Amino acid sequence: MGAVDWDRRLFDALIPLPDGTTYNAYLVEGSEKTVLLDTVDPPKADELLKQLDGVPKIDYIISHHAEQDHSGSIPIVLNRFPEAKVITTPKAKSMLIDLLKLPEDIVKTVDDGEILSLGNKTLKFIHTPWVHWPETMVTYLEENRILFSCDFFGSHIATTDLFVTDQGRVYEAAKRYFAEIMMPFRNIIEKNLDKLKEYDIQMIAPSHGQIYDHPEWIMEAYRNWVTGTPKNLVVLPFISMHGSTRQLVDHLVSALVGHGVRVELFNLAVTDIGKLAMALVDAATVVVGAPTVLAGPHPLVAYATLLANALRPRVKYLSIIGSYGWGGKTVETLAGMIPNLKVEVIEPFLCKGVPSEASFIALDKMAATIAQKHKENDFK
Ligand code: FEO
Repeated sequence: MGAVDWDRRLFDALIPLPDGTTYNAYLVEGSEKTVLLDTVDPPKADELLKQLDGVPKIDYIISHHAEQDHSGSIPIVLNRFPEAKVITTPKAKSMLIDLLKLPEDIVKTVDDGEILSLGNKTLKFIHTPWVHWPETMVTYLEENRILFSCDFFGSHIATTDLFVTDQGRVYEAAKRYFAEIMMPFRNIIEKNLDKLKEYDIQMIAPSHGQIYDHPEWIMEAYRNWVTGTPKNLVVLPFISMHGSTRQLVDHLVSALVGHGVRVELFNLAVTDIGKLAMALVDAATVVVGAPTVLAGPHPLVAYATLLANALRPRVKYLSIIGSYGWGGKTVETLAGMIPNLKVEVIEPFLCKGVPSEASFIALDKMAATIAQKHKENDFK
């Protein structure tokens, strides 16, 4: 069940959705009890209600995650099925009460590993915090070996396909989703992946995107994004106002490529911030190209730097290049914006005005240093 949101282009007023998204809900009918797993974003509630026409009863609504794209229509479903109880984690209970004003007595909490029998079907609730908020859980349907994972393993793609049909496309969308939603919680996600090892999972049914009927590859991809080593890749987000920083950027890119280092370049004036987030999943080094404006970094560079700090990628090295007109505190300001990144800083390079031969020599040195660091770490 659920809804396809073909038109949506932004999530949380922050995350670009170039391919729209879906809000998936699932109905499991046992011989004795019927449960609805999650709902849909409230503007799509009518679509869900239409699908529930003819369903005689719902005993429980399972809320895996309190964020409103999944929980927001619970009050509307409860209007139709007033006898239903809501099942969720203890942490989510207070969130659902805060966010949806649900009456406390209809929300039942389940412990990690608790089981609910529907008669001939059995649900096991597995607490998986931080996929994507601290209260999240997933549900394993034992008889069918299906994992209902909510945001975990999700992807933002609007489509009429129920199952994954184009693995390459879903890989890209799932990686974008991981970068934007899950990457900040990498360490806890690793523990959640370990926790799922004991289950025979034949199918993963997330609440965004298609169902994985061959789930091994997406679990392996997550394992790699979470625990793998960074790649021999420099990510270079930049802004240039009058072309000087761009000259520095272009020279550094050539020098890095000459040393066998891959580079992904993002002009922040035009870039899709989700693409930048995806590149950060793999990057070993970030070099920020920042012109100085009003005595500090260009605001778009500051925005991207704040975002990178919040996403906590596994980046190992960082540097800053740029041009200034008369002075300022660009390097100090940017350095103060990345407390979450445990990086080694490679000496930044700023030049006054248009770059000179000396500027290019300094960038050649920076490129050689980065290449050497990547080699020492055996980044491939
Ligand atoms: Fe799809 Fe965190 O909500």
